[in-house]
Amino acid sequence: MLSKTQREEMASRVGAAGAAWLPGELMARHTSLGVGGPADVIEIQDPSLLPRLVEILHEYGVPWRIMGGGSNLLVVDEGLAGVVLHLARARKRLEFQEKQVEVPASQNLGTTVMECAKKNLGGMEGLIGVPGSVGGALRMNAGAYGTQIGDVVRSMKVFRGASGRVETLQPGEMRFEYRHTSFSPDDVMLSVLLELPERPYTDILERVKQCNQKRRASQPVNEKSAGCIFKNPPGLSAGRLIDELGMKGTRVGGAVVSERHANFLVNRFRATASDILKLIDMIRERIFQAYGVELEEEVIIWRDIAKLQ
Ligand code: EPU
Repeated sequence: MLSKTQREEMASRVGAAGAAWLPGELMARHTSLGVGGPADVIEIQDPSLLPRLVEILHEYGVPWRIMGGGSNLLVVDEGLAGVVLHLARARKRLEFQEKQVEVPASQNLGTTVMECAKKNLGGMEGLIGVPGSVGGALRMNAGAYGTQIGDVVRSMKVFRGASGRVETLQPGEMRFEYRHTSFSPDDVMLSVLLELPERPYTDILERVKQCNQKRRASQPVNEKSAGCIFKNPPGLSAGRLIDELGMKGTRVGGAVVSERHANFLVNRFRATASDILKLIDMIRERIFQAYGVELEEEVIIWRDIAKLQ
């Protein structure tokens, strides 16, 4: 635990290094689920400051984690001891070279899909409507409608928290699996080089429209959620299993199993993180009893920064 003086000293060094120190930010305001207690946030405009900032935190023994767009994240109500790093939305534009494009990790995923489309580059149509940043999508290997972002990655620039170094990773040096990657929690995605198939803009737009329609028809896009809460067990759909047990509409406090898609838990009535966690446990138990299947969370849960795996 830092003393008040140490904390102030650290905050002023963070400021002097060129980043914004935002103490006690409610994580509910930074996550799409809209739940979560306070944490100290460092907002970073210039990603090249990362090594210096992490060095400062390290000097004070303060644990840290990087947050992407906050759209697949559940933070506990008690808040977090430690620091949440956040890369501010990139002002830098996408850099195109033939079929390749360099994208800053803090760029919005949907914007990226559409900017590429304008250059007649497709292959990411299914990702339209997946909320969040490119960096967050890369960490989780976000996917929908037959597209996974990992499939179009050519190389990636990553800040390695463990060594404090920036590395450019080639395909053999990273693994993208179903909603899982080989990156560790203290790897920070800085930028990615994507290689995309050429397609006429109008074709891409048509496919984007179809995906949007499907998503709006089957997912609660206008409610606060973290997308699908559980991964699909091999060969099964978690949403269908939960639906078959009649759990749509089940409510704990302010959290509800969406009537539109049972793998979405929505924050409808000012839910707390604890409401959502209770609902997750309840569903997991019911599914295990009924089918003998252990559901694994897809949403990332931050209970304690120092103990994150
Ligand atoms: N289904 C039901 N009831 C429900 C939900 C689904 O019966 O409440 C049935 C559907 O009718 C369909 C099957 O289950 O026959 C599969 O449903 P869907 O097509 O909605 O796909 P999913 O497997 O539930 C996955 C991803 C989504 C992604 C969609 C579209 C996971 C955990 N979910 O959902 O990703 O958008 O496919 O490709 O992999 C996310 O990652 O957060 C996410 C929402």
